[in-house]
Amino acid sequence: MDKPRVFVTRKVDEAAIALLETVADVEVWPDYKAPSKGALLSNTKDVDGILANTEDRIDEDVLAVSNGRLKVVANMAVGFDNLDVNTATGLGIAMSNTPGVLTKTTAELGFALMMAVSRKIVAGDRDVRDGKWQNWHPSAYLGVDLAGSTLSVIGMGKIGFEFAKRAKAFEMRVLYHNRSPRKDIGEGFEYCGKLETALEQADFLCITTPLTKETHHFIGKAQLSLMKPASILINIARGAVVDNIALFEALKEGRIAGAGLDVTEPEPIPADHPLLTLANVVITPHIGSASQRTRRDMAVLAAQNIKARLSGEPMPSCVNPEAMTRKTQREKEEEFALYALGAELDEEE
Ligand code: NAP
Ligand code: GLV
Repeated sequence: MDKPRVFVTRKVDEAAIALLETVADVEVWPDYKAPSKGALLSNTKDVDGILANTEDRIDEDVLAVSNGRLKVVANMAVGFDNLDVNTATGLGIAMSNTPGVLTKTTAELGFALMMAVSRKIVAGDRDVRDGKWQNWHPSAYLGVDLAGSTLSVIGMGKIGFEFAKRAKAFEMRVLYHNRSPRKDIGEGFEYCGKLETALEQADFLCITTPLTKETHHFIGKAQLSLMKPASILINIARGAVVDNIALFEALKEGRIAGAGLDVTEPEPIPADHPLLTLANVVITPHIGSASQRTRRDMAVLAAQNIKARLSGEPMPSCVNPEAMTRKTQREKEEEFALYALGAELDEEE
């Protein structure tokens, strides 16, 4: 049998490549930019594994192009809205994400955004550089205190909870909304079964839900209209959880006071997007998990998932374990070939 082959869609930490090379021949896409759909298809037609990124759409076409050889797709991200998990499961292709290793790093970035917007750090820096800062004034650049304010976390999972703990250390009151209350987080975090309650009470709103059919444009015009005019929205989840046009209108009309966005719809956000005309918005280029240590850990965890699947061992963070109960087309063919060989040998005897 051929040695397994793995395609890695972007350069990642050497430690991850070295791990993959213990079980497979590895090809790494050399460009800074993501492979186009055509390049993704031509590079994955004879592979057993793909190490993908959030920008790579692993759809039906990509899952089918190897004619049943592909066994595993490891996303180097905790969010996996770029993967067609249903189709993969039907084809016996296991998929994985990278939960946990990026949790604190992403919460820290969210907190940095919250502080940047609440204290006008980016707008102030811009004025200083542009020579627009003339003198100190008692009412210039006035922000909002975190201490004593109310934070609502929408999606109190791993990242939401790390964000909430940091907010507690800054003496904020913390509310949260999930589909169900958490029993494992101790006291001091107030559950709102209704999204509306969390929106109405928030001075700061932090969004940390996955992007799913249910959460697409979860925060739109109606939801924004419930928020306080002085409130600030932080999105570190996925751009499409918020309706960005509704957000622009709410900000422009002063129905909310500011926004910090690590994620937008689309990404990259076009340079002429209306949101970029607003001084009370800070946008970062999807860098929630972008620390050196965390990106290495993410790449290694993705590689561990691929290695495990190719070695027939349990994967550390599979998102569709049901796939393991199905055989890939190639596995069925190999089994049939073995069966046929056995039958032939029996006949010869
Ligand atoms: P997680 O631990 O699975 O947490 C997700 C939370 O969202 C859960 O508490 C879940 O609670 C809640 N949730 C899911 N669907 C919901 C719904 N329909 N309504 C209300 N709450 C809902 O995931 P995580 O590790 O914290 O990551 C969260 C997301 O952050 C990822 O999916 C990813 O998209 C994003 N992310 C972004 C970056 C970045 O670079 N900006 C980095 C990492 C992650 P219930 O199930 O009880 O509802
Ligand atoms: C990054 O966006 C992730 O989901 O890990």
